[in-house]
Amino acid sequence: MRNPAALTTTFLATCTILLTACGDANRSNNSVNNSPNNTPGTTGTSATIPIGIAFAQTSNVALLGQEQVAGAKIAEKYFNDQGGINGTPIKLVFQDTSGDEAGAINAFQTLINKDKVIGIVGPTLSQQAFSADPVAERAKVPVIGASNTANKIPEIGDYVARVSAPVSIVAPNSVKAALKQNPQIKKVAVLYAQNDAFSKSETEIFQKTVKDQGLELLTVQKFQTSDTDFQSQATNTINLKPDLIIISGLAADGGNLVRQLRELGYKGSIVGGNGMNTSNIFPVCKALCDGVLIAQAYSPEHPGEINNVFRKAYVDQYKKEPPQFSAQAFAAVQVYVDALQALDKKSKINKLALPQLRTELNRQILAGKYNTPLGEIAFTPIGEVIQKDFYVAQIKMDKDGNKGKFSFVK
Ligand code: ALA
Repeated sequence: MRNPAALTTTFLATCTILLTACGDANRSNNSVNNSPNNTPGTTGTSATIPIGIAFAQTSNVALLGQEQVAGAKIAEKYFNDQGGINGTPIKLVFQDTSGDEAGAINAFQTLINKDKVIGIVGPTLSQQAFSADPVAERAKVPVIGASNTANKIPEIGDYVARVSAPVSIVAPNSVKAALKQNPQIKKVAVLYAQNDAFSKSETEIFQKTVKDQGLELLTVQKFQTSDTDFQSQATNTINLKPDLIIISGLAADGGNLVRQLRELGYKGSIVGGNGMNTSNIFPVCKALCDGVLIAQAYSPEHPGEINNVFRKAYVDQYKKEPPQFSAQAFAAVQVYVDALQALDKKSKINKLALPQLRTELNRQILAGKYNTPLGEIAFTPIGEVIQKDFYVAQIKMDKDGNKGKFSFVK
């Protein structure tokens, strides 16, 4: 039996979140100049070097994509203020992927064929990457994933790398943090979005971690990223009396699920996955977001000059600490900038035809080491990120549920 009050709040929360996403996404769309500025087939006559940015600026996935756009724009300004690529500015060309595979394929095709970019950062979801990255692979255009964390993303092809550490490295940290906070945890329930490649990949790691930690896996419940009503999964889960609930989903569905679990009386620990790693879930679960643990591949307190610069630029503009999705987008743009600079020193990039530039750039990306806000990163030969430092944060909400933050756990 469905609870009418809960359904109403679900509806309102979904509307709020859609309005937030669409409003901000439109603003960022308007401020981006998408005009191609490159002579087809060569970069020789360009005044700027076009880098494609394929993030979700509309749909619920813009809850993640907005943060990525923010990080990429900070990188563009910073590196151009520093002189760009040995004097030539970069130009980020934004194409909205929206939230699905078709949107991502479209954005990639436009960036490759019309905007003539030298490489692409994106798309937002792993679910989109498995469809869109092969388009770039066939065209021999480098792709750097900035948020794709599902297993087997770099394996899509020779031109695909990522700066977003995979679920296998990141996800177990949050379960360990929950156990450290409450060593009495024994019984665990796991829920995941079955229509999303990242969520399916992440839940496998969470389920393995539960077993590796000697915990009892009570139930595995499924939902869809488009769902707003989780009464049946939440009730089934709570009836089994778990001490810990682990959720792999995206921001709107994940936030609604947390809210409904709490509304139905669940008092135990909650771990959320990487798709919920955004303050954009605060308007969805409000005060009931409080306490959710989420693993992080970035800390605003990471020492070093480049993170100081990034953090200050973000705080000045947004009046809050930078989130992981923004830092990873900054890092992805930085990899292009550093790799282009290194390549330009070996063979002048404005003398290379576009296909040759894309191929040599891809080689250079994989060969380099990058001192980014995420720390020093490099790539394995297949394009998997090598990164040292990971963290866990816990959501702290004000009593009224209107303001919150990610508080890093020691
Ligand atoms: N980390 C999420 C994904 O890979 C956003 O889809």
